[in-house]
Amino acid sequence: MKTLIVGGAGYVGSVLSESLWRQGHDVTVFDLLMFGDRSLRALVGQPRFRLVRGDIRDGRALEEVIAGHDAVCLLAAIVGEPACNRDERTAVETNLEGALKVLEASQRAAVDRFVFSSTCSNYGISDANLLATEESPLNPLSVYSRTKVEAEKAILAAADERFCPTVLRLSTAFGVSPRMRFDLLVSDFTLAAHRDRKVVIYGEQFWRPFVHIRDMADAVQLVLDAPGETVRGEVFNIGSNDANVQKGELGRMVQNEVAGAELEFIPGGTDPRSYRVDFSKAAARLGFRPQWTVRRGIQEVYELLQKNHWPDPGDKCYYN
Ligand SMILES: NC(=O)c1ccc[n+]([C@@H]2O[C@H](COP(=O)([O-])OP(=O)(O)OC[C@H]3O[C@@H](n4cnc5c(N)ncnc54)[C@H](O)[C@@H]3O)[C@@H](O)[C@H]2O)c1
Repeated sequence: MKTLIVGGAGYVGSVLSESLWRQGHDVTVFDLLMFGDRSLRALVGQPRFRLVRGDIRDGRALEEVIAGHDAVCLLAAIVGEPACNRDERTAVETNLEGALKVLEASQRAAVDRFVFSSTCSNYGISDANLLATEESPLNPLSVYSRTKVEAEKAILAAADERFCPTVLRLSTAFGVSPRMRFDLLVSDFTLAAHRDRKVVIYGEQFWRPFVHIRDMADAVQLVLDAPGETVRGEVFNIGSNDANVQKGELGRMVQNEVAGAELEFIPGGTDPRSYRVDFSKAAARLGFRPQWTVRRGIQEVYELLQKNHWPDPGDKCYYN
């Protein structure tokens, strides 16, 4: 399969690109390289791999790169609420208008499969006694999730017998990537416990679902392998019901792995999101079974921190 990964140099994308390449895909990455190209150094120069630097806001460049691909996975975005709030205009131009350009160029190029990386953040605040399903109302609380919800709508509406788009609402990611992020909760808490011996937790009662980036890559592979009728115009929450964790509990899990770290709880905070999510649709229809627990993910990051794998994890290149 000739697969184009748009945004394939990022935290999730670099792991997905390598995973699909290892499974035999001809992989093209199209990316603005906001965080450089070092994340793809294992792939650059290999057969069946091509890196093209470009911007999804540039329709001509998209048209050129998409031609000849069977599948497009769209990950390129301004990712996370802080990054979107810093520059709302670029967030809308990229996450919504840019996403629609990728969609339209893919349809024109007669691409068959289209997989869109959306987010469980779209649920915003959900009833803590219920698990949010793909049918639950969306409640986007930020520019980031509003752009994702709008892009989802257009992508799902494009499904027809010739074009097979799928929306994945991904849990908050964890895990080690060649483009590491220390602004995501699991790695953020683990770094704070290791470096500062203290994790400051805002809104300990808030729920978040988590999924490892390698499991995310497996989910994309399952979608690409599934029969069209299973995934055409469908939304899947990607994660596992066991990995819905309250932020306070995540802090205690980190404390169990990083001896001597203390926790400080601060009520409220600026981020009111809280959602518990149901992942049974991806399990039942795609056979998706995440392999990584949050505990193992904490251990993975902690082991590399102890080995000084990232000489300066406070460097801004690790933060969106
Ligand atoms: N990381 C998570 O926890 C998480 C959770 C849910 C959903 N997602 C989604 O997964 C996707 C990837 O997230 P990530 O954590 O890897 O983010 P990231 O910031 O590490 O990667 C984003 C990539 O997009 C590229 N990009 C940005 N603007 C571009 C443009 N105009 N043209 C071309 N490329 C551009 C960047 O250069 C970067 O390589 C995003 O769509 C995000 O919304 C991520």
